[in-house]
Amino acid sequence: MNMNNPTVFPDDFTWGAATASYQIEGAWNEDGKGESIWDRFSHTPGRIEAGDTGDIACDHYHRWRADVSLMKEIGLKAYRFSISWPRILPEGRGRVNPSGLDFYDQLVDSLLEADIEPFVTLYHWDLPQALEDQGGWVKRPVVDAFVEYADIVSRALGDRVKRWITLNEPFVSAFAGYLDGIHAPGHTDLYEALAASHHLLLAHGRTVPIIRHNSPASQVGITLNLQPQIPASPSEADREAAQYADGNLNRWFLDPLSGRGYPEDMVRAYGQAPDFTQAGDMDLIAAQLDFLGVNYYARGIFRSNKIDEARNAPRTTFRNDEITDMGWEVYPEGLFEMLVRLHSEYDFPAIHITENGAAYPDRIGPDGKVYDPERISYLERHLNMVLQAITTGVRVRGYFAWSLLDNFEWSYGYSKRFGLIHVNYQTGERIPKASAEWYRKVIKDNGVVQKAGPGLERGI
Ligand code: GCO
Repeated sequence: MNMNNPTVFPDDFTWGAATASYQIEGAWNEDGKGESIWDRFSHTPGRIEAGDTGDIACDHYHRWRADVSLMKEIGLKAYRFSISWPRILPEGRGRVNPSGLDFYDQLVDSLLEADIEPFVTLYHWDLPQALEDQGGWVKRPVVDAFVEYADIVSRALGDRVKRWITLNEPFVSAFAGYLDGIHAPGHTDLYEALAASHHLLLAHGRTVPIIRHNSPASQVGITLNLQPQIPASPSEADREAAQYADGNLNRWFLDPLSGRGYPEDMVRAYGQAPDFTQAGDMDLIAAQLDFLGVNYYARGIFRSNKIDEARNAPRTTFRNDEITDMGWEVYPEGLFEMLVRLHSEYDFPAIHITENGAAYPDRIGPDGKVYDPERISYLERHLNMVLQAITTGVRVRGYFAWSLLDNFEWSYGYSKRFGLIHVNYQTGERIPKASAEWYRKVIKDNGVVQKAGPGLERGI
């Protein structure tokens, strides 16, 4: 890498794209797969926009060979996908469904044949419903169930899969699922969310050594969704609100993973006796990681609701006008800021950007093509921030665009398109968008054109 004119990434940089089982596979009850909490949730009227479900999704379960060919056309060096726990263990524990394992076994082989490295996420939110019926992530036995599941999968695939992600975004599993009620299983209880977050972290920590044992010479990490949480004004109340949001999203997970235990200000703020924590848990959670996976989409700006708008200090930070179809602000500098913070405050051995991308209302043009210049611009600006972070010394080793395919965007159903590849949900037809062609060139050239912009002058 030329440090004076950094337009290319390190030679061994991992270029990938990401998906998740429930969002793309479909085949929700085929070949012995059990029900997941997302099957149950999406089948419950009123939970998902337009009544959409993941029953068919992108039909990847049947079209995976063609999807691997598309990945090869884009030139992906790696593919991050998740494994559906109830496809492997229909009741969550005990009986293994051989066709479930076969599916991933063949997928891994065909990725390797195509020279695409599999990055496996063990849990991207599709808990077996049978385990939810026993209390789900709120109850401690789920930890043993996850350890058993991870053991089975890492034994089966560990000779070929060399990068493992235990959990995707435990914050979202715990808080969107058990406090906000907008994700499966749709509960609204702070104690449940906190107990769930602890059991998720413990399940992660207990699994790390098992994966290392079953999959020698592999690297193990966890993926968090992180973002800078900024006060809307310098008032004390806004700063407190931002501090709380930072503790809730970022530090509640980063601190215990780094061996610091739960942040005390948050234990106080939550006001809950953490009776779900047992002696020894925090050491297990702090298992040494090989890398941290970071999902980044936007920053958060916080305005206190303790003082009314009129009496609070005037706002000094405003959301940029440029937003995606999710209503999320486009703020690439936030990725740089977060990476620098991780480097200086936490110092994980390596970082992979395991998701970054944007939804736009893409349309197929009269020429049959899909032009998505906003997505290209979004990805390009964020990649420049990654490059800038690397140049400043942050150990970022890979980048995964979210997502390979348009897919089931959780409570938004199919109304949001994040893919490099357009999917026709009626016919299953795939059309690589202009962004896929752009990404192909980025990968081929191992870099993007460096543009000046705010944040670029900063050093660590
Ligand atoms: C997440 C998940 C993805 C989402 C994506 C866009 O970050 O929420 O990992 O499954 O689809 O982030 O919201």
